[in-house]
Amino acid sequence: MQRARAAVILAAGQGTRMRSPTPKVLHKVGGRTMLDRAIDACEALGCARIVVVVGAHSPQVGAHVRARLGDAAVAIQDPPLGTAHAVLAAKASLEGFEGDVVVAYADTPLTDADVFAPLFALREKGADLAILGFDAVDPGPYGRLILGKDGALERIVEAKDATPEELAISFCNSGLLAADRAALFAWLSQVGCANAKGEYYLTDIVAVARSAQRAVRAAKVAETKVMGVNSQAELADAERIFQQGRRAEFLAAGVAMAAPDTVHFAYDTEVAAGAVIEPHVVFGLGAKIGRATLRAFSHIEGANVADGAVIGPYARLRPGAEIGEDAHIGNFVEVKAATIGRGAKANHLAYLGDGAVGEGANIGAGVIFCNYDGFQKSRTEVGARAFVGSNSALVAPVRIGDGAYVGSGSVIVKDVPPDALALGRAVQTEKLGWATRFRQAMAGRRKP
Ligand code: UD1
Ligand code: CA
Repeated sequence: MQRARAAVILAAGQGTRMRSPTPKVLHKVGGRTMLDRAIDACEALGCARIVVVVGAHSPQVGAHVRARLGDAAVAIQDPPLGTAHAVLAAKASLEGFEGDVVVAYADTPLTDADVFAPLFALREKGADLAILGFDAVDPGPYGRLILGKDGALERIVEAKDATPEELAISFCNSGLLAADRAALFAWLSQVGCANAKGEYYLTDIVAVARSAQRAVRAAKVAETKVMGVNSQAELADAERIFQQGRRAEFLAAGVAMAAPDTVHFAYDTEVAAGAVIEPHVVFGLGAKIGRATLRAFSHIEGANVADGAVIGPYARLRPGAEIGEDAHIGNFVEVKAATIGRGAKANHLAYLGDGAVGEGANIGAGVIFCNYDGFQKSRTEVGARAFVGSNSALVAPVRIGDGAYVGSGSVIVKDVPPDALALGRAVQTEKLGWATRFRQAMAGRRKP
């Protein structure tokens, strides 16, 4: 039977190199905060308890964790005295927990639950402490993993404390680890701070565990999975790698993209096999796309698009847009909180906000659902097979009956019965010969 699992997520760093008023771990990758991504991974691991260690300097981070996981999930580290000290801040929260603890980081946004698998494999094979390493392209400031002849992990040396020979090692510490809860906190209590930075290093538990005759092993993962974000440039790198991953997943799942590098997904975007996505389509949060065609330069957020629908080019679907089967939403059409029925069309320059368009209805160019009076929003309902002429303003609340026509240029302020024609515009008059008389009167005058 799998041992119970808990997680300690470190998030108490200052993140000063982000140079941002937003705390580092609340920056987003794929539209989700790095902190939430770390929590997602720990939840997916089946962690019965998750404790996030936050600094006293960023109340916003504590509030974010409380809102998602409750008060018991927050441990404050004040002041921050190093990574070992940070994990110790979670000790009281995990008192009495029987099982394994993983240490994770709120600034490694590409770490998903699968990344932890080798740690648990090592634990099952008898390792008391399992640590995840990676071969660094540029080992620079990372801690180096020093292996013994038997392949066991002997110790971790921080770059600042390393000899030139040790610095030449490219097998580096990701920081992710797993151990029994009681053993981990016992080792941590023996860690000192006699090092270059004068901090309590989590990495020192390797030597502590070894001197207690415990088995310490390291496993290897891809560097991209454990890369840390410390600056805006690294955040952009993480986003790029995340996007590449999502594009590859969708291509493999049968979504056609002629220029995948130009398509931007969110972490929760869903697209069905057989969908076609043209270049430069951008997804915000909460898009669910069926076997539809999304034409170039469309922006889609919080919207459902059914099979056979055609969106764009240059369309904008906002939260609550429900686009039915075979419906067409064309260029410069914005849909918000509105249901568009099967086969309905709004092909040019329209705003359809707060309402419903029935099956097979036709919305002409330039139609506006006037949904807002400066205080409240109201709904516009267009019935099945209705035809709304170009440049009409439908002043909500209003209902156009099934099969009705609205003449072009109308301002519709009252409900239109089914199958009626509504004209809400000035009656046209013609003045015969007027133009001729005008020109004669103006003859001899210079045009400005
Ligand atoms: C740490 C590791 C290093 C590893 C690297 C991987 C130690 C001593 N070193 O170095 O071996 O290669 O991560 O990225 O563990 N934090 C706190 N409280 C503190 C200090 C840090 O919560 O008092 C948090 C930070 O917010 C961050 C994480 O712990 O999320 C790592 O701290 P950081 O100072 O970035 O460690 P590194 O020097 O990168
Ligand atoms: Ca770091």
